[in-house]
Amino acid sequence: MAKLTIHADSPLHTINRNIYGHFSEHLGRCIYEGIWVGHDSPIPNTEGMRNDVLEALKQLHIPVLRWPGGCFADEYHWKDGVGPAEKRKRMINTHWGGVLENNHFGTHEFLRLCELIGAEPYISGNVGSGTVAEMSEWVEYMTFDGESPMANWRQENGRDKPWKLTYFGVGNENWGCGGDMRPEYYADLYRRYACYVRNYGDNKIFKIACGANSSDYNWTEVLMREATKYMDGISLHYYTLPTGVWKDKGSATDFNEQDWFNTLEKTLYMDELITRHSAIMDTYDPDKRVALIVDEWGTWYNVEPGTNPGFLFQQNTIRDALVAGINLNLFHHHSDRVRMANIAQVVNVLQSVILTEGADMLLTPTYHVFDMYKVHQDASYIATDAVSPSYEMDGKQIDQLSASASLNADNQLHISLCNLHHADSLEVQCDLKGRQASTISGLIISSDTMLAHNTFEEPDCVTSQAFTDYRIENDVLLVTLPAHSVVTLCLK
Ligand code: AHR
Repeated sequence: MAKLTIHADSPLHTINRNIYGHFSEHLGRCIYEGIWVGHDSPIPNTEGMRNDVLEALKQLHIPVLRWPGGCFADEYHWKDGVGPAEKRKRMINTHWGGVLENNHFGTHEFLRLCELIGAEPYISGNVGSGTVAEMSEWVEYMTFDGESPMANWRQENGRDKPWKLTYFGVGNENWGCGGDMRPEYYADLYRRYACYVRNYGDNKIFKIACGANSSDYNWTEVLMREATKYMDGISLHYYTLPTGVWKDKGSATDFNEQDWFNTLEKTLYMDELITRHSAIMDTYDPDKRVALIVDEWGTWYNVEPGTNPGFLFQQNTIRDALVAGINLNLFHHHSDRVRMANIAQVVNVLQSVILTEGADMLLTPTYHVFDMYKVHQDASYIATDAVSPSYEMDGKQIDQLSASASLNADNQLHISLCNLHHADSLEVQCDLKGRQASTISGLIISSDTMLAHNTFEEPDCVTSQAFTDYRIENDVLLVTLPAHSVVTLCLK
């Protein structure tokens, strides 16, 4: 039995909706095929973007979408991707499979995608191989209202009014694929590039510095020491690899209990990473003005057998649903500092919410978690204290329960619960401080086996279902979670 105290009588800060952000890179079949099929495609589309994917993304209430990379961002030259499509420069996507990039999906198409799905754009600028002028002109092109060289060019290319652009990343992984830089060097470059990322008219840019790779605490230390006052956010990248080894990360669909356990244990490491990076940030920014932006997270497995290794295409099982639920719970717990996160990546790459094959599309277990958890967006964070049984494997132990809660503007209390165990159910006793349990409803994502996933033949093997396995006894809410399940309860 797990005991969960829910401090519903003291709502705290807002859970920023941007924690539910996504990431779309020119990588494999994410942009091309996954989103962009072109105006002449037999696949039903709106201005070249497939309707089935647009509809599914709209339903998810995605608050913010990051683009064009990733590693691609630091070799992307935005001017190649505007103007008449047939005249756009073609390039080689050297990072991802060495394939031809025809630049048919560029600035106008991305910003239109954001409009169509109701997301705010988050653009990653090129520091690694781009110039200061190029970055500065991109911002002018997108946001300047009036007469200017870039605004005039935008108008010639069919967009009269500027777009609203808030989130702008000054480089990506500049410690690695974005230029192999030392933090001291990048901190200076950040200050220089960020200086020319201008605010035009009413548009106010939220500038995001490239942050650390996983546990590189020195990177955060140097960036905060040298550049805090020039940034609004700093990023963090951490991926869950079942084996922890890049050469052989483990399979997405063929795994045993030990692999299951290792994957969830490595997911929980996110807690330590955020805690320690936040502690460094606290010393330079005690008022928490600068946001920690976890703009790449999720599972990273060996690619699906027979697919291009540079395309990072992987399946998604109920295990990924648990990874998503655990991470989102952790982001809620750290939401005073973590104010944006972007799962990698939205379609057909890494821990996607959508997979496509030709004209077919399926929603992954991860999609259903985001759909179920979206009730927490912009709600007030409610602190929880959990006393959980241990889940043990091969001498290691983790908590069997992961949980978080929030209170929305309609006074609805939402409680999200994950049972991490691959085989055992879990009873959770919830002590609701300052709240009577009255009308309750629930949703669950679970499956018969821990390997369950959706395929194009069986797309609804793992979905969310109504959940009713709870009862009230002496004002205490008792919930029984099946093995490997993710649940959200709504208390009115
Ligand atoms: O998401 C895939 C890649 O992972 C991104 O391009 C890069 O930023 C990270 O290393």
